Amino acid sequence: MPVAFGKVIHQDLQPRAESKIVANRARRRGMSMKDQALAVREMAYAPYSNFKVGAAVRAADGEVYVGCNVENAAYPEGTCAEAGAIAAMVAAGQTKLTEVYVVADAPLPVSPCGGCRQKLSEFGQGDVVVTMATLGGIEQKTTIAELIPGVFSDEYLEKS
Ligand code: THU
Repeated sequence: MPVAFGKVIHQDLQPRAESKIVANRARRRGMSMKDQALAVREMAYAPYSNFKVGAAVRAADGEVYVGCNVENAAYPEGTCAEAGAIAAMVAAGQTKLTEVYVVADAPLPVSPCGGCRQKLSEFGQGDVVVTMATLGGIEQKTTIAELIPGVFSDEYLEKS
């Protein structure tokens, strides 16, 4: 039976949701960035491209936050793995990233898209290392500065 739109249902879900997140993070502790990116890649929702991507970012607190791509029947509404990992990091109260790992099943290590380069740059210094990897085991390292030279940043938002 459909619930009338606007009806408020009180459910005390908060403690359960919170403890689940903590338990997952605790379970992931000790796993390498690579293994965490590989694991979250399995969770990707990519029925349209069949191209699953996993991303892991390490924040200044030392914790690793992960994300996968989440596609949508309205194609442009899909989100990238990097965006998901950054969202998880910010949701945990962290706004500085110190290391990035991205993995996909591709012949070449997958390079973050333009939008994700901009997003990485918002939270990471230019010298932050970004490791791009394939399922086949190829790894290529670059930096945020190399990925997005001449990035638009908050400096430009100041008026002359
Ligand atoms: N994708 C990512 O998640 N990260 C990248 O760095 C490149 C592309 C996703 C978006 C889309 O769901 C699929 O890969 C194919 O483009």
